[in-house]
Amino acid sequence: MSILKNGILWNDTEGNPIHAHGGYIIFHDGYYYWYGEDRREDFYVSCYRSKNLTDWEFRNHILTVRSNTETYRVRTKIKLVNEDGSKVNLERPKVLYNERTKKFVMWVHFENGKDYNDAAVAIATCDTPDGDFTYHGHFNPYGYMSRDCTLFQDDNKTAYFISAARDNADLHIYRLTEDYMNVECLVQKLWQGEYREAPAVVKIKEKYYMLTSFCTGWAPNQGKYAVADSIEGRWSMLKEIGDETTYRSQPAFILQKDGKVLYYGDRWGGGGEKYFTSSYVIYPLAEKEDGLVMEYVEEIDI
Ligand code: GAL
Repeated sequence: MSILKNGILWNDTEGNPIHAHGGYIIFHDGYYYWYGEDRREDFYVSCYRSKNLTDWEFRNHILTVRSNTETYRVRTKIKLVNEDGSKVNLERPKVLYNERTKKFVMWVHFENGKDYNDAAVAIATCDTPDGDFTYHGHFNPYGYMSRDCTLFQDDNKTAYFISAARDNADLHIYRLTEDYMNVECLVQKLWQGEYREAPAVVKIKEKYYMLTSFCTGWAPNQGKYAVADSIEGRWSMLKEIGDETTYRSQPAFILQKDGKVLYYGDRWGGGGEKYFTSSYVIYPLAEKEDGLVMEYVEEIDI
């Protein structure tokens, strides 16, 4: 089967629902790896892989309450469970492969599971794309709040971490160190006071596009995008994309395949138990004369 129907929970090759919300996909050694939130049981992040972006094989619960922990040179707080035994909250995991260190490096939004006051980012690493990741703890980049986030790897392998700061009012772009293990420089503070969340970046023909949502919790809202000639340079003002609910979705990430630009969004079920009914959508993006356009489709043949 090569057709995916939007807005339903897709199954993996064993027939189980795929739990990879707020996720990210990278291509490595012939496979696409899909990482995402898995809030069931003792899990935090799960990993699936596929050759065709349609048939997804479950690989591993790569980060759980029992993951190995290890400090590194950056001072972080290591907390995978609260003192009362309850789970913390790890959202929007993104993973990049670092060619210098040969490590897969995850950046993920950290909260204590009770409120959103930590507003921090956590890091985890692994030698393989789908092995058990080692958790290195959470911190606030340069002391800033850091909530909804993404990673972006440029063609020259320089990587960036983009996250919502100042109670989501501003969106920061940080260049990462060569090993992807820390922030090296805060290169941009974007759209101050515009409350943009759920960033997703793609480079199309030398132009950088960033899609974001507004800040309305689990409820979808009008998506917007901006464009830049250089990720560290000047970004345009925000322009609307999709309809007033981004066709009932919030950005997760953007993937390119065979010249196609694919927007992956979460269609959140909501908080509490409803979260587990959250599903996914894929909408094609295209550069048109007057900007970037999102095409609404019921299903997609990748
Ligand atoms: C959204 C955010 C999600 C999740 C949710 C909780 O704004 O994008 O990742 O944090 O709020 O209400």
